[in-house]
Amino acid sequence: MADTEDTCKILVFFVNGKKIQDPDIDPEITLLYYLRNKLKLCGTKLGCGEGGCGACTVMISKYHPQEENIRHYSVNSCLTPVASVHGLAVTTVEGIRSTRNKLHVVQERIAKAHGSQCGFCTPGMVMSMYTLLRNNPIPSMAQLEEYLTGNLCRCTGYRPILDGFRGLTSDGMVIEGCGRADCCKFLRDKPGVINVPNCPVNGINEDNNVLEENDISHILYENDFKPYDPSQEVIFPPELKVHPELQTQNLEYRGPRLIFYRPSTLQQLLKLKAQHPEARLIVGNTEVGVEVKYKNKLYPVLINPSNIHDLTAVKRLDSGLQIGASVTLSKIGQILREEIKERKEHQTRIFTAILEMLKWFAGKQIRNVAAIGGNIMTGSPISDLNPLLMAARATLTFCSKERGERKLLMDENFFTGYRKTIALNDEILLYVHIPYTSMDEYMYSYKQSRRRGDDVAIVNAGMKVIFRKENDAVQDIVLAFGGMGPTIVMATNTMKELTGMSWNSSLLERGLSLLLEDLPLSPSAPGGMTEYRRALALSFFFKYYLNVLRQLSLRMPDKVSPLAEEELRAIEEPEHMLPRSTQLFQKVPPSQSTVDPIGRPMIHTSALKQATGEAVYIDDMPHYENELYASFVYSSHAHAKIISIDESEALNVDGVVRFFCARDLAREKNRVSKDNVVFVQDVVTCVGQIIGMIVAKNQPTAQRAAKLVKIQYEDIKPLIITIQDAIREKSYFNKWTLYKGNTESALNTSAHVLEGEMHVGGQEHFYLETQAQLVVPSCEDGTMEIFSSTQNPTDMQEKVAHVLGVLKNRVICRVKRLGGGFGGKETKPPFVAMPLCIAAAELNCPVRIMLDRHEDMVLTGGRHPFLCKWKVGFSDQGILLAIDADLYANAGYSLDISHAVVQNAMFAMDNAYKCDNVKIIGYVCKTNLPSNTAFRGFGTPQSTIFAEDIISRIAAFLNANANVIRERNMYRTGDTTHSKEILERCTVRRCWDEVLDQASFHIRKTRVDTFNK
Ligand SMILES: Cc1cc2nc3c(=O)[nH]c(=O)nc-3n(C[C@H](O)[C@H](O)[C@H](O)COP(=O)(O)OP(=O)(O)OC[C@H]3O[C@@H](n4cnc5c(N)ncnc54)[C@H](O)[C@@H]3O)c2cc1C
Ligand code: FES
Ligand code: FES
Repeated sequence: MADTEDTCKILVFFVNGKKIQDPDIDPEITLLYYLRNKLKLCGTKLGCGEGGCGACTVMISKYHPQEENIRHYSVNSCLTPVASVHGLAVTTVEGIRSTRNKLHVVQERIAKAHGSQCGFCTPGMVMSMYTLLRNNPIPSMAQLEEYLTGNLCRCTGYRPILDGFRGLTSDGMVIEGCGRADCCKFLRDKPGVINVPNCPVNGINEDNNVLEENDISHILYENDFKPYDPSQEVIFPPELKVHPELQTQNLEYRGPRLIFYRPSTLQQLLKLKAQHPEARLIVGNTEVGVEVKYKNKLYPVLINPSNIHDLTAVKRLDSGLQIGASVTLSKIGQILREEIKERKEHQTRIFTAILEMLKWFAGKQIRNVAAIGGNIMTGSPISDLNPLLMAARATLTFCSKERGERKLLMDENFFTGYRKTIALNDEILLYVHIPYTSMDEYMYSYKQSRRRGDDVAIVNAGMKVIFRKENDAVQDIVLAFGGMGPTIVMATNTMKELTGMSWNSSLLERGLSLLLEDLPLSPSAPGGMTEYRRALALSFFFKYYLNVLRQLSLRMPDKVSPLAEEELRAIEEPEHMLPRSTQLFQKVPPSQSTVDPIGRPMIHTSALKQATGEAVYIDDMPHYENELYASFVYSSHAHAKIISIDESEALNVDGVVRFFCARDLAREKNRVSKDNVVFVQDVVTCVGQIIGMIVAKNQPTAQRAAKLVKIQYEDIKPLIITIQDAIREKSYFNKWTLYKGNTESALNTSAHVLEGEMHVGGQEHFYLETQAQLVVPSCEDGTMEIFSSTQNPTDMQEKVAHVLGVLKNRVICRVKRLGGGFGGKETKPPFVAMPLCIAAAELNCPVRIMLDRHEDMVLTGGRHPFLCKWKVGFSDQGILLAIDADLYANAGYSLDISHAVVQNAMFAMDNAYKCDNVKIIGYVCKTNLPSNTAFRGFGTPQSTIFAEDIISRIAAFLNANANVIRERNMYRTGDTTHSKEILERCTVRRCWDEVLDQASFHIRKTRVDTFNK
């Protein structure tokens, strides 16, 4: 863009009311990085760096001069380029209040409701709720849920968080009864509920005494809190109102590696795109930001088209809506809702289908910034909007400087390959035209993902049919599917064959068989689960068929019969119930000393600081003047010989200080245990092992340079990945046997013997704060101080002392708090800290690291996958007589504490059931995967599920109720377990009864059975 007088090269924005002017802005960095590293506002956290966790949520406020109003929206600052906030106001958790002045109601409530544990997610939660209140001082519970969809918490659970906030909503406290899901008042009027239970709060207690209401205390009383007073909020910076032109200025920021433009007219935009055909347009940056962060992409020219009127406007035309390519998904949702309200029902059926899909599209923060154009032009095969736009027969208007405008139908020719479209490089998408629907047109959308909200689709679909006028014969039908190939696919043959047919069971049958041919997925298709995906596509079509049939039966009752009850149930959307909850606790006796905390629901000491962002985690600690940042070089082969390491290119990067690898320390120091080293030297046995480390002046430089280190490998056989591979290769670290009685003879004499096997998959650790370490050398006696997020400071001290060759008392490990651990920070942190300590000792300066999420996942391993092969002998009554089980755990490349996990699984294999003859062999399988480690439950969840599988299989064999078989086998006081433990005061049966009772098991079961009839 040629310099014009009004081209601004200085970044101007406000943070917490303070003006920031930066003439030296690097457009490559994110708002999060800027806040944390330049402004030292560390309350906003980095959890994932890809918009998935909400720990980095901040509020952005924008003045709209035409409407003279200010709009607030929550964003993921980890994906927001700092360059894009020019002319805007940013509010972080520090900006709303702190423990030094009175807490904001949002902060106070989440803390006092016990809504934080590790607290790493808390500032993000606070900011999402705060933004909601700024937009609507008395929101509904539904809005509260919507605003929190993009925020993850890994420790606390969402119940206390919602409990804290529900008092700020209009309907959150209007709960019939006590709030429990099994509240007698609530269940009384529910369909399908036959036996309303006694009141679980004031009903019969264990000793058959009616509990007094006073025996139970509620944790939260509304009167404990002050009400929300919007007039006390920080004001929007007046300067931004007086100078709204800041928002529309042309911008040009030049950084060391890229240029960022924000043109203000379409002509400027087209000219820029003609000059830089490879440039990326960024609006929400939710695609490009992830590509840059995790796919190592660099786009030297970025253009932000958020200021071009043609791209941000929505026009209501006679034929439909014309939506500018830069219009955000939140805005589209709002406009579609208005349209649906104002127009006749039949005109807006496409809009209804899109709105339904938007409910499940990402989280609130992403929808607030992501634009429709970005979704279309990314061309993802699992885009949620593209199948709908194709089904709607939307038209796209493109424009280039050379050739002007052209219109394209979004049909089967639009996507030309994986993430490719027919648009040319110099073209930009101007707008999308979405037509209104006629009386004879019906459209629906479907999406299946692993979890209901804020998750990418496994398969999604948009389907639309047009009937001949007041007839049930198909005039035109469009069936578009995502997740069924490298692009969104249209089932063109099915569409052609169904045209002309009547909407009846023959059409359904024909459609189902044709779709199978139209949507082939080879078993090796990327994404896996091919059978499931094909089944999903067919079930969506089945649902669509029923949805349309129902509409036809309403429209033409004389021609089309109404749906049968079970057909209606198949398309009924489950009723969305607002979250109900309560927390009760036993009152402490009046005689208990007031200073005795036992039994009292006290706020933990960090809660208030967590809610204000003042709680300091490792990466929030102030930087030392001479501090360096480390970044690891990881193995990219699973089993291979290292032929060579070439760090020369990395060392040429400005700001890189040194490269460290096994060459830098003696072999005996490098070896930490039998199967673990600091730096891998000769042979890598897994992807993600640390081969080397770059130390540089800052994080971006270190991370960039680490990717430039070249490693040559020579693959080695065998490659052992699964437990089955390990069994085949007899690749075990250890094997143990646990006996009780004589299993062999008991199996021979049992009335029945069954055999089976079950596999339980692994699980990634996702503590919200990734592994982080800051190591500080001291000039005195080789002392090293480590600030760590470890669960095991002693292990850290021992390992670091070994690698530095100093006495243990020269190593000080400090742990202030962890942003979650769950076992994942038990044995792994020393392997992150040891290389840093070597560098810190050698260079005599502090060194820091905080792993990126994907590094953390690849480096640290997680929950062990298990395989159980079992044989069970039992009586006609289902009494367990003998269990013979082989338990296999996939430990990964090193033993870590897998032996203890497997032993624990062996001990827990009885779960709650007595068996006199047991033989369990536990195998710790050695594979070429990351080394698995401690994880909540430590082997117990896996073997518990195996025990339950055995009971269920016995019940199925005997055609008996599984719960009856469970109860027959449960332990009693005095029984001896297979690990020779004599059970005193065995509470299994009491727990079982209480769980059934408190979960209203029988009531729920009756409702499920009624539903399934
Ligand atoms: C946490 C998370 C959750 C997500 N969930 C979902 C989901 O549930 N469903 C789903 O479908 N997607 C999802 N996405 C993907 C993404 O949010 C959407 O695709 C979004 O619509 C992209 O819009 P954007 O403005 O952020 O795109 P950007 O990243 O700004 O741009 C994306 C691409 O589009 C191009 N582009 C943008 N505008 C134009 C234009 N006018 N002309 C030409 N090219 C243009 C850019 O050059 C770039 O290549 C998710 C992403 C994240 C990070
Ligand atoms: S969403 Fe930004 S750090 Fe997770
Ligand atoms: S308290 Fe929410 S992640 Fe730990």
